[in-house]
Amino acid sequence: MTRRYSRIVGTGSFLPPRRVTNTELAAQLAQRGIETSDEWIVERTGIHARHFAAPEVSSSDLGAEAARRALQAAGVPLQEIDLIIVATSTPDMIFPSTAAILQRKLGIAGCPAFDVQAVCCGFIHALAVADAMIQADAASKALVIGAEVFSRILDFNDRTTCVLFGDGAGAVVLTASGQPGILATDLHADGRLTDILYVPGHVAGGKALGDPFLRMEGRAVFRHAVTLLGETARAVLDKAGKTEADIDWLVPHQANIRIMLGSAKKLRLPLEKVIVTVDEHGNTSAASVPLALDCGVRAGQIRPGQLLLLEAVGGGLTWGAALLTF
Ligand code: UT7
Repeated sequence: MTRRYSRIVGTGSFLPPRRVTNTELAAQLAQRGIETSDEWIVERTGIHARHFAAPEVSSSDLGAEAARRALQAAGVPLQEIDLIIVATSTPDMIFPSTAAILQRKLGIAGCPAFDVQAVCCGFIHALAVADAMIQADAASKALVIGAEVFSRILDFNDRTTCVLFGDGAGAVVLTASGQPGILATDLHADGRLTDILYVPGHVAGGKALGDPFLRMEGRAVFRHAVTLLGETARAVLDKAGKTEADIDWLVPHQANIRIMLGSAKKLRLPLEKVIVTVDEHGNTSAASVPLALDCGVRAGQIRPGQLLLLEAVGGGLTWGAALLTF
């Protein structure tokens, strides 16, 4: 019997139209007495601009548009979708899930739709779950989406975090196939590190309690990120019986160009084999990997048959990778 794989057959993404450059953001922060500069942000992160959603726009709005574009690219009719997984840390509501809201916005009903919460590594987790469900014949045509409005949880009085993140969404259509497909996935979490990257606030008794903003010990996250990404990249290659020389494209989480270059160096990959969108998107958390993937596809860089390594690290800490033939 031939093995049942899952395979990406279409990608899509969507960025809210408002593009905010470092210079514009620095001028806004200066009005609050917060000092930063285009030079600092570019040198330390590689970010030049990010997109911010309008106040009435939610993660499900961005995700639904990315999903429509992925469906169109795949040529898969919406009615054939039998699974929706949304990775987000900025859900529309506490419940129902952003996936259920997005399902309604797409205009379908009946198929399972749920969220995955693994912060910046959420899309890799969602992809691994969808892959496992397709391999187990629990689904055949899945929409896997990363969608975020991180601007809502940024403290614009904290220059160490507010310059780093942006809003956006990316999506893939994943279908059952006799041809590989996703070759291997690798997921991890270490809850001992919850307090180096978190949004500690919560809702109780009709009020938002505690601090509802993103807090990060940037240097600690940076240090862990390079090591953990190296380990998870090695793990997926080993699981699939491949080596770094086989990789056509590294599609990393877009948090900081220095982390991405460190990660590529560990894999002995030149910058020319790394999809880079952090310069224009900033860190869009769970949206960053599918956004970068779609940009690489639409720019004609990523082509059918090529071997891709997707990797991410995020709050939790969570980290993981997926190796796939596109
Ligand atoms: O997506 C989830 C994963 N997240 C990440 O991967 C983020 C990982 N961390 C990072 O990317 C980097 O640590 C940052 C970009 C957050 C910070 O870069 P860094 O090179 O680690 O800088 P630093 O935190 O060591 O700060 C250096 C200096 C400090 O001043 P002093 O103490 O040396 O006087 C900061 O106060 O830069 C200062 N600084 C700033 N200056 C201007 C921090 N933020 C800013 C700013 N503008 N926005």
